[in-house]
Amino acid sequence: MPFRLPFFPEQASSFAKEVDLLTLYLVVMASFFTLVIAGMVIGFAFKYRRTHPDQVGTEFHESPLLELTWTIVPTIIVLFTFVWGAQVFFRLYRPPVGAVEYHVTGKQWMWKTQHPTGQREINELHLPIGQPVKLTMTSEDVIHSFFVPAFRTKADVIPGRYSTMWFTPTRTGRYHLFCTEYCGLDHARMIGWVTVMEPEEYQSWLASVPVPVSPAEQGEQLFARLACAGCHDGSGAKGPNLHGLVGSEILLASGRRVRVDDNYLRTSILDPAAEIVAGWQPLMPTYRGQVGEEEVFQLIRYLKSLPDDRAASVPAPTGNNESVVR
Ligand code: CUA
Repeated sequence: MPFRLPFFPEQASSFAKEVDLLTLYLVVMASFFTLVIAGMVIGFAFKYRRTHPDQVGTEFHESPLLELTWTIVPTIIVLFTFVWGAQVFFRLYRPPVGAVEYHVTGKQWMWKTQHPTGQREINELHLPIGQPVKLTMTSEDVIHSFFVPAFRTKADVIPGRYSTMWFTPTRTGRYHLFCTEYCGLDHARMIGWVTVMEPEEYQSWLASVPVPVSPAEQGEQLFARLACAGCHDGSGAKGPNLHGLVGSEILLASGRRVRVDDNYLRTSILDPAAEIVAGWQPLMPTYRGQVGEEEVFQLIRYLKSLPDDRAASVPAPTGNNESVVR
């Protein structure tokens, strides 16, 4: 159903229409009830006003039918709104498996982005049309918020953890990118552009930007430079084997089971003692201060690129490794 609200930005993502429709519905509902209630308040004030000084109010007993109506009808409307809103919300915040992952780092006062193939940009992000995009984002200092109005989705970018958002660009063009969390003096200037291009155009754009190595390769170099393999040598003798780790479920010393995701890996690099794997001593030193947020991204990309060689010794389940190599 093609429709466009006046005063709204362009609809440039897969979510734009459904978010606009929900917004329109909320505005119409709220306006309707505002008018009905305000109209009744004013109308009754005139209709039942006191006309001579010795007039007194008459006694009134409740009307069950009226009370049931004004309870049941709003309940149905509110529940309908909740179910609709929740459905849109869940679609907005659950990236599909095939989405291509880009990294975003916010800092006072700029956006740094990196493509899966390694290209970096500042206050710009080029994307191909029609491809689901997942942004994994973090901040180097305070809370920022990544918002592209034309895509109708936004997410806070928080120091100390990863937040994600996703969308599929459906229209080529250049769209405003804003920071929507007051983050200090130049918050208003923490803006940029997202450029959506045809796939071929995007490929030639990528080729025009010099990129020495991909994030996974940068992570591999970093892994060597930091001598991580001194313990994580793959044998599982001195430190846990990292092959095939991403996406698997592990048991922690605390007895809790967790799935190894980006946030778990990030914590394990920067604060290793926080979530020790069962059976291991907290011997790993912290790498806080030695690696920045972008380097943590690179290490995680490298870990995700490691082949799952544990499958060779364990009878392979009928599944796939897409959770490992993404
Ligand atoms: Cu960053 Cu406002």
